[in-house]
Amino acid sequence: MASLTITPGRALTGTLTVPGDKSVTHRAIILTSLAEGESRLSSYCRGEDCLNTMRAFQALGIRIDEQPDALRVHGKGMWGLREADGPIDCGNSGTGTRLLTGLLAGQDFFTILTGDESIRRRPMGRVVKPLREMGAVIAGRKGGELAPLAITGTRLHGIDYTSPVASAQIKSSLLFAGLFAEGIMRFREPRLSRDHTERMFQSFGIPLRQDGGTLVLQGRPSSGWTGRAIVIPGDFSAAAFFLVGASIIPGSDVTIQNVGINPTRTGLIDVLTAMGAKIDVLNRRDEAGEPVADLRVRSAALKGVTVGPELIPQTIDEFPILCVAAAVAEGETTISGAEELRVKESDRIATMSAELKAMGAQITELPDGMVIRGLGQAGKNGRLLGTLAGQSHGDHRVAMSLAIGGLTANTSTAVADTGCVDTSFPNFERTLASLLTA
Ligand code: S3P
Repeated sequence: MASLTITPGRALTGTLTVPGDKSVTHRAIILTSLAEGESRLSSYCRGEDCLNTMRAFQALGIRIDEQPDALRVHGKGMWGLREADGPIDCGNSGTGTRLLTGLLAGQDFFTILTGDESIRRRPMGRVVKPLREMGAVIAGRKGGELAPLAITGTRLHGIDYTSPVASAQIKSSLLFAGLFAEGIMRFREPRLSRDHTERMFQSFGIPLRQDGGTLVLQGRPSSGWTGRAIVIPGDFSAAAFFLVGASIIPGSDVTIQNVGINPTRTGLIDVLTAMGAKIDVLNRRDEAGEPVADLRVRSAALKGVTVGPELIPQTIDEFPILCVAAAVAEGETTISGAEELRVKESDRIATMSAELKAMGAQITELPDGMVIRGLGQAGKNGRLLGTLAGQSHGDHRVAMSLAIGGLTANTSTAVADTGCVDTSFPNFERTLASLLTA
């Protein structure tokens, strides 16, 4: 089993790029498979999650040529998918599983969706229940709460749905179902979750509009959309490890190029800035309807901060690494309203608390967050203890967060079971090594 050993004591310096955005890559594969003609997706995320979505569409009859720098997708139009001849395995990907469930519910064929042991534990009822209200026929373990899911494609109808959770996976699952449904689909959520699906629908000319806080989608649009070239921005959630790493390790100065800075994703910049971080957003520009910039980060003394429910959706995937920043900051950090962390690739409140405590951090778990008493002293970041028994719990973001935490430690840190890093950031170890100076 793969593991990662981190030797502390070196600053992070230099310029880097990160993998293409995982969320945008999933959506680009889906929408270009349904487009007419060829599309080229460059700088796509080559993590296993997105490759599983690519393989899913290949199994559904779409030709996709995989090259290291680009995917060539030969779309067959909105109604061009065909039945796969076996179960589709989404691996570790909640996004892949939930988005495909919505999309496949409205086809005229049968599909079985499954995934790894973590996916088979994660809640699927949050999409299955509203999809059934749209007429979907979906069976699964525990009444459809757990994958594998068996989807008997059928004629759906649009509904008016208010999601109890701010979740882009729920929103996108229902928008993909709504695309194939009769009539109008209306969707509301308690706070705005990442809006990549909406942006991409609009950039392809799919008739989705915003009416106050409600998304309104015309199902079965009269005309389809055409394939094209898409440049995927760098993944902010991958950049996040270096934003924190360079902030907490004295003497660091790092520039991350071509990072997506969609405001529904960049809560970590606001939180770190409030903690005292030095982050410059440079060369702002737009790519395929998504804002992009270069991010320069220099080490700084961090202090504790309060993160409440209003900041959760735009920071959701960055809590594992934010915990590392809070653990070495001066003073207390309180995170609340973040109960969604309990149903991610691992229960991230439990796994990060346990792992960082083993490295000397002072953390109290709350049902919906945590209180972290930072180890820093006035004007200085503190240091963790190293550990030779760090565990990823099969969660890529936990693995990378512990590796960054290890850079601040007194002794070496070994993180076990780091194969999961490949789900989103296959070159993480090499990228990190390239920034570590003597
Ligand atoms: C994602 C949505 C978020 C996020 C996940 C990716 C997406 O999940 O945590 O990593 O691409 O739609 P939720 O919708 O469960 O919040």
